Amino acid sequence: FFSPLLSLRLSPVSACPFHCVCRNLSESLSTLCADKGLLFVPPHVDRRTVELRLADNFITEVGGNDFVNMTGLVDLTLSRNTIHLIRPMAFADLESLRSLHLDGNRLTTLGPRDLAGLVNLQHLIVNNNQLIKVSAQAFDDFLLTLEDLDLSYNNLRRVPWESIQNMASLHTLNLDHNLIDHIAEGVFGELYKLARLDMTSNRLRTLPPDPLFTGAISPTPYNAVISLNFGGNPLHCNCELLWLRRLIRGDDMETCATPTHLAGRYFWSIPEEEFTCEPPLITRHTHKLWVLEGQRATLKCRAIGDPEPVVHWVSPDDRIIANSSRTSSFSNGTLDILVTVARDDGAYTCIAINAAGEATATVDLKIIPLPHRGGSGVICLPIQTEGKGS
Ligand SMILES: *[C@@H]1O[C@H](CO)[C@@H](O)[C@H](O)[C@H]1NC(C)=O
Ligand SMILES: *[C@@H]1O[C@H](CO)[C@@H](O)[C@H](O)[C@H]1NC(C)=O
Ligand SMILES: *[C@@H]1O[C@H](CO)[C@@H](O)[C@H](O)[C@H]1NC(C)=O
Ligand SMILES: *[C@@H]1O[C@H](CO)[C@@H](O)[C@H](O)[C@H]1NC(C)=O
Repeated sequence: FFSPLLSLRLSPVSACPFHCVCRNLSESLSTLCADKGLLFVPPHVDRRTVELRLADNFITEVGGNDFVNMTGLVDLTLSRNTIHLIRPMAFADLESLRSLHLDGNRLTTLGPRDLAGLVNLQHLIVNNNQLIKVSAQAFDDFLLTLEDLDLSYNNLRRVPWESIQNMASLHTLNLDHNLIDHIAEGVFGELYKLARLDMTSNRLRTLPPDPLFTGAISPTPYNAVISLNFGGNPLHCNCELLWLRRLIRGDDMETCATPTHLAGRYFWSIPEEEFTCEPPLITRHTHKLWVLEGQRATLKCRAIGDPEPVVHWVSPDDRIIANSSRTSSFSNGTLDILVTVARDDGAYTCIAINAAGEATATVDLKIIPLPHRGGSGVICLPIQTEGKGS
């Protein structure tokens, strides 16, 4: 066997940064600079290096010429430095890179071009940073090659599900210990190779039904078993999670956070009948509103239910009202018509919908036509009546 110094003497390497150890074994060059007190990536790394280890230093940023021309680099380790900045295109020449370790740094964002050029990347390890944002384009260059993505122990509220759902080779996805409150429906539908998903300790209140989760009990052709963890989330155990309860797994220690009467109870021990929803009930709404033509009209409709109902508005000519330059339809049930015109006059319907049903209420909007120029000069003020729901 070789001591680093001996191997250095046996096969001398043209450029080895001060303090680092460089080895040319089986014709592939390793540059080993872990734990050397480095404050930046040493400039004199041999561009032919295949493995570059820079873990446990004090590097604060990467980019510029740090990795320029390292087209043969396969393995790059930058773990446990103090990196807070990756310059866009920092890794652009690393077309052979398969493994990038950035764990234990101080990154707060992954921008759209920070990881550009890594067309063969298989392992991306960015756990234990301070990430609050990952750009939707950050992973674009290696969507099809990535096998292992670790974003755990960060501060992410959102992850770019729209790119994750295209990672056809993905095997392991670690998103645990973040602040994620939403999993997009259907994201795992085409991740046929996914074998491990860790969502432990996030802020998920619900999980969308997905074939992947069902696969956890009936294995796909690719995987014997999918390892799935979502303990430590504030699950809202209503009828929307009944599908999950029906899977009868029981190997994890998930508990419910809400509704109140199920708080703290072990998910798998609650009988199916207790996973219930409440249909919407409209508690308050505008009954009749008079508005002078050209003025703003605000129609309100408040609904309760479990899950929280979504409110839609239907116009007098029976069309669902979408957002436009003139109208805003908010999810809390408020409809704003910014500048009313005569044809806005009529009966509007608010429809509150949730998984358990729907409820409707009618609102009359009266548009008072503008007086003719040089008319009486009477000023009409908007009058609004509001009351208990029907
Ligand atoms: C490594 O050694 C081989 C021969 O053993 C040589 O051809 C090659 O140029 C060396 N690589 C470097 C980077 O020194
Ligand atoms: C990278 O390669 C180009 C073209 O071969 C060369 O002009 C440039 O000096 C190299 N840069 C470094 C830092 O090695
Ligand atoms: C309209 O836009 C608001 C934000 O401006 C948004 O909250 C709401 O969901 C949108 N409504 C529809 C129907 O898209
Ligand atoms: C509904 O949301 C809009 C936009 O966020 C806000 O302007 C309005 O006051 C809200 N209405 C109610 C009744 O909470």
